[in-house]
Amino acid sequence: MNNQLVTSTLNTKEAATQLIVNVDLPKGKISKHIYGHFAEHLGRCIYEGLWVGPESTIPNTDGIRNDVLTALKKLNIPVLRWPGGCFADEYHWKDGIGPNENRKRMVNTHWGGVVENNHFGTHEFMRLCELLECEPYICGNVGSGTVQEMSEWVEYMTFNGESPMANWRQENGRIEPWSLTYFGVGNENWGCGGNMRPEYYADLYRRYQTYVRNYDGNQLYKIAGGANIDDYKWTEVLMREAGTMMDGLSLHYYTIPGDFWLGKGSALDFTEDEWFLTLKRAYYMDELITKHGQIMDQYDPEKRVGLIIDEWGTWFDVEPGTNPGFLYQQNSIRDALVAAIHFNIFHKHNDRVHMANIAQMVNVLQAMILTEGDQFILTPTYHVFEMYRVHQDAERVELAAITRDYVAKEESIPSVNATASRDADGVLHISLCQLDHQNSDKVEIDLRGMGTISDVSARILTADHLNAHNTFEQPDVVAPREHEVKVMEDGKLIMDVPAMSVITLAVR
Ligand code: AHR
Repeated sequence: MNNQLVTSTLNTKEAATQLIVNVDLPKGKISKHIYGHFAEHLGRCIYEGLWVGPESTIPNTDGIRNDVLTALKKLNIPVLRWPGGCFADEYHWKDGIGPNENRKRMVNTHWGGVVENNHFGTHEFMRLCELLECEPYICGNVGSGTVQEMSEWVEYMTFNGESPMANWRQENGRIEPWSLTYFGVGNENWGCGGNMRPEYYADLYRRYQTYVRNYDGNQLYKIAGGANIDDYKWTEVLMREAGTMMDGLSLHYYTIPGDFWLGKGSALDFTEDEWFLTLKRAYYMDELITKHGQIMDQYDPEKRVGLIIDEWGTWFDVEPGTNPGFLYQQNSIRDALVAAIHFNIFHKHNDRVHMANIAQMVNVLQAMILTEGDQFILTPTYHVFEMYRVHQDAERVELAAITRDYVAKEESIPSVNATASRDADGVLHISLCQLDHQNSDKVEIDLRGMGTISDVSARILTADHLNAHNTFEQPDVVAPREHEVKVMEDGKLIMDVPAMSVITLAVR
């Protein structure tokens, strides 16, 4: 058995899936930052979704809506990336500070051509992070911004003495500097962030990051803009030319069942084949991390540089009738499975993947929350984040899965996919998902090195049709509930794992 999650397949449909968990074989900490989020000035993510302004009739705290805040706090969000995305390389931070009436009204050229009034800027973002009790991850502008502008933003946020930027921050009402660790030097600089070649961006990265300074003991973790999907050359060049000057290198991969330009597929109106294809494409993240990781290993065998998956998730066609530039999509039990697959993969690569940020937090792409006026609903993806939060900063333990093939159109993926970790109190958590949309499995879990079991409980997220989802009229169609697990005389656990389900067990 190697040190990764092992999945082999039995080809008999009747065979029970077996999970073998070696509780006394620790495999390193699962960084809580893998459960990070991303909020961009895109569609109704920031405006309406998070920010309604202090004058709004929607109950809010300093302009941030209370219903959304309360729900998000339950996820223990560790880190939040902002302001983009593609927006980051068009954003000029000085437009978003000071009195609102002086803030520049600009066009959000990338996302729908709407007016951006800059009412949500640095101070508002930092307040959001304070309220969520999460760390900020700021993405700076390389594509259309200057070195000076980026350098001054860091000075504005983190310098504690007298300086033009620190003085300005104080005039704007914030006396103490903020604590800031994560700073991205550009976004998708191979595309919307400047259409650069890796050699050119590597040089720019070296230059810009020089002036991204550590003030007063504030230690920044600098993240270089990384590859698109399987652009291994990008990773190679960046690691070779700038690897020693970065703490993290990003990677973006979205799960799209169709074609990015010709039609991505509908979030709700999809076939059984599209269900299968979506989950198969979610699995591709494993190959991507493995291959990008192998390149990073050549330059950084100690794995000092983190692979930062700072954009991931499903990307479907927008909901009919909504602004194509707003990327608003519904979210079903299929999205829940995509999220669970990703977490299991990120855990497996916990030595290299230091952070991940789902795209995006509210109302955009694979969102946690959808809002409409003062209404709001939690999505199936929200529930997976809530069920998996027990793995944050826990010690991964070795797990092997022996499962059957889930076959469609002469292709196959393992039907059950799982991960396990032990938290600081010694509680073992096992999360697994059943990808098969029709068949359930009886799953047997062999816990080796666990000792006496005093208590077992489980929660399940499942549905009885492919596109089950929550709506403003029926907000709890897909929601977690208790699930039965039996402890056998020999100490093994046994339970049913229904079609289309995500389960998390707690074993004490
Ligand atoms: O998340 C939506 C967009 O996807 C981001 O702005 C960009 O970085 C990526 O292409």
